[in-house]
Amino acid sequence: MKFDSREIQAVAATHPSRFDLYADIHKAMRALMSDTLLAVGRMDPDDTAELGSVSGRVLELLDFCAAHVRHENEFVHPAIEARAPGASAALAHEHESHVQDITHLQATVANLCRLSGGQEAASTARALYRELALFVGQNFTHMHLEETAHNTILWARYTDAELLELHTRLVSSIAPADMMYTLRWMVPAQNPAERTALLSDMQAHAPAPVLEAALAQVRPFLSDPDWAKLARSLGLAPVAGLVTA
Ligand SMILES: [Fe+2]
Repeated sequence: MKFDSREIQAVAATHPSRFDLYADIHKAMRALMSDTLLAVGRMDPDDTAELGSVSGRVLELLDFCAAHVRHENEFVHPAIEARAPGASAALAHEHESHVQDITHLQATVANLCRLSGGQEAASTARALYRELALFVGQNFTHMHLEETAHNTILWARYTDAELLELHTRLVSSIAPADMMYTLRWMVPAQNPAERTALLSDMQAHAPAPVLEAALAQVRPFLSDPDWAKLARSLGLAPVAGLVTA
């Protein structure tokens, strides 16, 4: 596939204010994938504790990717097919390939977990790093196509109100624990305006303890200036040790 950053700029320029249902979750995925890949690259294959913890992180990433594919297959692709028959076929085929890749990576991780250091652990860790890097690269390209080609179709065939309703139905299907995991990666990857939009919506519509849990989840991963901007934008009381006004 030819990578062309002008394409995504052209789509954004044509529809500067349209609702992008991919934007937030894809930022979360890019952050999670990048961070996990780096962790695998740094992993000491002779340190069984680290090997176990990093392997666990890779399995979490793979579960997250599998769930993301299911969400898109269950909610987004049927919406595209309903008003543009055949338009989701190419990327649906890539989803099938991603599922196969996930199964293969899970097997590599299981193989690694059976080892306890030595040459075989080192070579398996190196193989996992390379396979995961390819998977991440393919997913980055795939997400770019969704944000350009699929958004172009969605914006042509749906109003923003319809897309928001579709997005709300998708998000409502996610279990609370999975949502907290998503927020852990999504919010630190967003810019300040995106964080405020997401969490002020939660502030307006969710019970107070849900917002409190979300903020507690993301606080350790935000810098002090970013946290101050977020707290100020949500009208929260200044936090000890931080300047919020
Ligand atoms: Fe996808």
